[in-house]
Amino acid sequence: MLNSKIEVICNRQVEREGYSSNLYLAMASWAESVGLNGIAAWMYIQADEERTHMLKFVKYINERGGKAIVPAFTKPPADFKSVEEVFKEVLKHEEFVTESINEIVSLTLELKDFNTNNFLQWFVNEQVEEEASAKQILDKIHLLGKNNMYELDRDIVSLRNQASKAIITP
Ligand SMILES: [Fe+2]
Ligand SMILES: [Fe+2]
Repeated sequence: MLNSKIEVICNRQVEREGYSSNLYLAMASWAESVGLNGIAAWMYIQADEERTHMLKFVKYINERGGKAIVPAFTKPPADFKSVEEVFKEVLKHEEFVTESINEIVSLTLELKDFNTNNFLQWFVNEQVEEEASAKQILDKIHLLGKNNMYELDRDIVSLRNQASKAIITP
């Protein structure tokens, strides 16, 4: 049976992963509306990934005898100043999610909930990948100059998962 404190904090994470999905969907829609179809494609994939993160928590909570609650989500922004601003926002958001996952990990250690701790290790690794990927794209934006988005838009989908490979095989 899931400790009620763990159930509450895992439900908080259901909301955060779901919000992440909607945030990236909003970014996809913005990018598509300004003709950045590659960046939109990257964001649509990212939004789907975040939805699977939310589902992992929903299913885990229920599997352990708790009850996952589907929450209302805060409306994400609809407009963004530039691609650089978008990816700065992605990095900031993923750093927030990393902190949030780490808080749950700390609580599992405090309460000696080793099952949830084990479940969370996938997310601990995933957050390393997410932060590295956002940083890599920001580096590319700075290399290209932030007003030259044609090449990034063309190539961005092929950058997916490259940052994490670089971490595993230096
Ligand atoms: Fe996530
Ligand atoms: Fe990911």
